[in-house]
Amino acid sequence: MDICVIGAGYVGLVTSACLAYLGNQVIAVESNPERLNSLSQGIVPFFEPGLQEFVKVGIDSGFLTFSDKLEESVKKAQIIFIAVGTPSLPNGEPDLSQVMVVARAIGSAMDGTKRRIVVNKSTVPVGSGNWVEMLVSQGVANSQPVPARSTRMESPSFVVVSNPEFLREGSAITDSFYPDRIVVGSTDENAVAVMKNLYKPIIDQTFDPPSFAPRPKGFQEVPFVITDLASAELIKYSANAFLAMKISFSNEIAGLCEKVGADVKQVAQGIGLDYRIGKAFLNAGVGWGGSCFGKDVSALMQVAKEYSYPTPLLEATVAVNERQRLTVIKKLQEELKILKGRTVGLMGLSFKPNTDDLRDAPALTIAYQLLKMGASVKAMDPVSNERCQALNPNLDIVYCQDINELATDCDALVLVTEWDDFKHLHWKEVAKCMRWPLLIDGRNALSEEEVTQAGMTYRGVGR
Ligand code: UGA
Repeated sequence: MDICVIGAGYVGLVTSACLAYLGNQVIAVESNPERLNSLSQGIVPFFEPGLQEFVKVGIDSGFLTFSDKLEESVKKAQIIFIAVGTPSLPNGEPDLSQVMVVARAIGSAMDGTKRRIVVNKSTVPVGSGNWVEMLVSQGVANSQPVPARSTRMESPSFVVVSNPEFLREGSAITDSFYPDRIVVGSTDENAVAVMKNLYKPIIDQTFDPPSFAPRPKGFQEVPFVITDLASAELIKYSANAFLAMKISFSNEIAGLCEKVGADVKQVAQGIGLDYRIGKAFLNAGVGWGGSCFGKDVSALMQVAKEYSYPTPLLEATVAVNERQRLTVIKKLQEELKILKGRTVGLMGLSFKPNTDDLRDAPALTIAYQLLKMGASVKAMDPVSNERCQALNPNLDIVYCQDINELATDCDALVLVTEWDDFKHLHWKEVAKCMRWPLLIDGRNALSEEEVTQAGMTYRGVGR
């Protein structure tokens, strides 16, 4: 099929490369000239495991091309994906300005040669499907010349569907090929049939897996969930809010574990084995971050507010997370008593491993708080040191290249991001470099035994 994906950011690029791999002719439209230039050469301007190779495969096969010509690309396509960013505004509402511009431009580019499907892939508030439909129609109306009296215009036909994404940063390619479900929101039977056909190789798992994303053992087929537009939009927000709530729940229980002398890891295992609860997303630690959970939970609260509908669970989810980020500071105070004049080394900066994304990263909250309290902060992240420095020029952090450099003269190390690189270190050597051998495991990801055997003090979260 001929596809146009508008926005070659994280979601758009992964979607484009994946659909091209399945044999569709994909044009990814990108308006940022620098990004377009590097993508056209097969260079991905952010870190996502395997994506660079994957994009290259698409380019080399001829199925994936990049362009800045929206109109031309829309005209060629039968399915047009809107995958532009919807970042949070200061009041918590998502900024839909990019969606607005793009939807109108799609409308202006429409002609009557075929019935096109406009797919909302960006995370947009409930009700946006109808809004996008209105904007595309406005674009159509604005672009049409006033017809001469006797001529009949062939009106372009299109339908808007919602197709939310559930990709996780760090495993986006695997998530694209082996998703838990594909959701399509539309009441238009034809459009649903076309979308189902597009995703058929994934639904039936009939494609040859790429070498960098092997099919998980026993993975056979993917549920294709058809809903109305508003429900599909709400599924996206509810899924993220539920996952964030699950983590906050675990973090709240972790605090209680510390009071009563229980171990949250054991509690999580014990409750997670109940299939109604499930064991994923129960890892207690410094809390959730990233570009999605915070943004989506707050957008959901905003929607509810418009209807004067209270959302105490969502509010508590956020409040617990804010408190959780600072629990490592409390532990440092308990161990070191005074933080002024101390040096603390942060292991990891990105909001989770396998990404260089620093949006809403707990490490930044912790660093700012430590600096405010008069401590010195050092940090080492396997991929995002430079990015952090560039994005936070006023954040007074000493960036280090390896763990021993980080540990040197530190009164404590804090594991903030559980990169594999940190999991099995030579702790004796690390301890030797430190002024005081204290390790706060903010992700409960290290072996307490290995750390204590090296003569260090180990403190986890909720244990
Ligand atoms: C999340 C969702 O998991 C995806 O399904 C969704 O598509 C995506 O948002 C999105 O809306 O685009 P992502 O933000 O990439 O994906 O990362 P997650 O793996 O969900 O992790 C989010 C945060 O929760 C991280 O800071 C992670 O460290 C934290 N986390 C995760 C925990 O603290 N404990 C856990 O048990 C799991």
